[in-house]
Amino acid sequence: MSNVRRLYREPAIASHEGATTADSPKPKHVAIVMDGNGRWAAGRRLPRHVGHRAGYRVVRNLVRLAIERDIRHLTLFAFSSENWKRPEIEVSALMKLFLQALRREVNDLDDNGVKLDFLGARERLSAPLRKLMEETETRTAGNDRLRLHVAVSFGGRWDIVSAARRLSEAAAAGRMDPASVDEAALRRAMSLPDMPDPDLLIRTGGECRISNFLLWNLAYTELYFTDVLWPDFDAAQLDAALGIFSRRHRRFGTVTAGAEHA
Ligand code: IPE
Ligand code: IPE
Ligand code: MG
Repeated sequence: MSNVRRLYREPAIASHEGATTADSPKPKHVAIVMDGNGRWAAGRRLPRHVGHRAGYRVVRNLVRLAIERDIRHLTLFAFSSENWKRPEIEVSALMKLFLQALRREVNDLDDNGVKLDFLGARERLSAPLRKLMEETETRTAGNDRLRLHVAVSFGGRWDIVSAARRLSEAAAAGRMDPASVDEAALRRAMSLPDMPDPDLLIRTGGECRISNFLLWNLAYTELYFTDVLWPDFDAAQLDAALGIFSRRHRRFGTVTAGAEHA
């Protein structure tokens, strides 16, 4: 990696510096772009789908870690609108993996108080996968220990366009006054209206971009990029990200208290 790219990364920190204390700010909502499965596999001369399977094992572990660390919302980017452009063999391997993983995990997720929901263009998914997603959502609807949002066939632009269309339809049908369209109305028309905005976005795999993830919701999210490939992401990596987050100053456009005359 070149020095130029390194400039955009967090500086290396000693492990004690990453530690959080009981009163350090903690993110309630963590969103993750789980990138690097393909490169992880390529580095081992394995096919890409093996990397995706390794990535799935990390998700299992991550859900447990999120519960332990009292993260209330976890949003995972599993498959983007643009990922449909990948070779058919990879897309079908991923779809098969989603189906198997959901079937296998639903009991454990439910037992652990996880409420699961999905965001994305479901009409592009197979009927069996859609059915399983709906069943899982219904079955886990009463849980509230951790809310796990999985973005499949999701794009931030798709979400905004879908919301705009819903509002236009309501206005055209006379159910809504166009003058009443504001941020709150648009948010209500989006995929998961009651999901708070992410406090922290983690992207693994070394790319420093959003790749059409939650464009609306990331407006004031703290961004954290790491070169670690998703299948290598573990508790220490999560804690490093949480440690960095705890030392960020979130101002939301205002000034830091005490800095008014600086
Ligand atoms: C992320 O890993 C998983 C999905 C996009 C489904 P990639 O498959 O993008 O892995 P790289 O970026 O090629 O290493
Ligand atoms: C983003 O990763 C999407 C997911 C992790 C699901 P990509 O690998 O698709 O992103 P780009 O193509 O490098 O921007
Ligand atoms: Mg990638």
